[in-house]
Amino acid sequence: MRAWLVPLATLLVLALPAATPAQDLRGHGGPVGALDSAGGVLISGSFDTRAILWDLASASARTITRFHDGNVTAVALLPQGGFVTAGQDGRIAIWQKDGRAPEFATAPGISAIAALDVAPDGGHVAAGFWDGRVALLDIATQNITFHQAHSDRVTGIGFLQGGDLVSVGGDFRLARWNRALELQARADLPDLPNGLAITQNRVAIIFAEGALRLFSDSGEMLPERFLTDRPLVALAANGTDIAAAAIDGTVWLLQDTDLVQRQMFRAATGPVWGLALDGDQVFTAGADGVIRRWSLADGTALGGQALAEDAEYADDSRGAEIWQACAVCHSLAPNDHSRAGPSLHAIFGQSIATQQGYDYSPALQQLNIIWTPQTVAELFEFGPEAYTPGSRMPEQRISAAEDRQALVEFLARAAEAD
Ligand code: HEC
Repeated sequence: MRAWLVPLATLLVLALPAATPAQDLRGHGGPVGALDSAGGVLISGSFDTRAILWDLASASARTITRFHDGNVTAVALLPQGGFVTAGQDGRIAIWQKDGRAPEFATAPGISAIAALDVAPDGGHVAAGFWDGRVALLDIATQNITFHQAHSDRVTGIGFLQGGDLVSVGGDFRLARWNRALELQARADLPDLPNGLAITQNRVAIIFAEGALRLFSDSGEMLPERFLTDRPLVALAANGTDIAAAAIDGTVWLLQDTDLVQRQMFRAATGPVWGLALDGDQVFTAGADGVIRRWSLADGTALGGQALAEDAEYADDSRGAEIWQACAVCHSLAPNDHSRAGPSLHAIFGQSIATQQGYDYSPALQQLNIIWTPQTVAELFEFGPEAYTPGSRMPEQRISAAEDRQALVEFLARAAEAD
């Protein structure tokens, strides 16, 4: 079995009601540390080496990319459509919305990327590296410029409205750069910054001591608020609201102008590494790889609650064990398309790409396969790339014939259960 097929979801999920608009997003096979969202789409980056572009209305995966070597540490949507991913491998990749491969990518770097932002006009991408460098990438020319901006790792980066860049780093410094990466202003910070977001041309920064502070675009300190005595580790802003999250899973929603707290809720029992805001929703992600949805107005959970054991589907068989890797992306409950892939309820005997309410790729809709124990076994003998070319299901194979057999026997039992 490939390394990433290591089972993570040890429990299956209870059936959720069919396609409600705000289901949680399940599809990553490892912790999710990077999120960005706007206009009804969300991009997520994970330790499972994938980035997934989600359609929020249908809670389904539009594009699943597998390109980076190691953790996908930073992601951003492009205003013109498409998105950017960056990784532990030091590479920045630019993607079209439905891209199966990057439009282009920078060469592997000598240091991991920690932070990423896209200029308001969509023409440039800035990245901050663990070795303290900042890079500015011109998307049209693919030209990339580096500058040693900090003496310790870069922990946050963002574009101001006029196009200048602000960065913060483990050297406890905030710096402002022009497009030639020449220093425009610099300020000392009172504590270790863990992240940065630009909001109404001001700079919001979260700190390890639990404070959230606003700075002017030239580095003067504006309001500050001590939220907790735990480190703040994730931050998002949308121009009217700021969301900040702590290492213990607590999330604060604050008014952008004066940092007055509007809501506080517990999103997880462990760290929230990824935060995003879009419309009236807040998104959180962390160690379990699930992207959860919350109301921006009152902090209530929108996407159904915690994982529960479903005794009907789980058993001690080898097939159930193999299924755990599939359960990250597929439910067995009727019409439950809340994970990255379609529900596989009653799959045997059905034609490919016919589960109602799931938005399949055009490639899959053009194929002509009836799913039987034999064809599903073949799908994982030859792999989705060869067996269903153009499928959005990531490449994976099950090499042992007994394991393929055990999987389809499990599916014959569990996928038929009501
Ligand atoms: C990372 C997510 C992911 C994982 C893991 C995954 N799948 Fe999929 N799968 C998908 C997606 C997405 C599609 C729909 C592809 C498309 O529309 O092109 C799909 C489609 C399918 C289909 C075709 C469904 C239909 O209605 O025609 C089958 C069968 C399937 N997967 C079985 C499995 C099994 C069995 C496993 C475990 C061995 C598995 N998948 C693991 C994401 C995944």
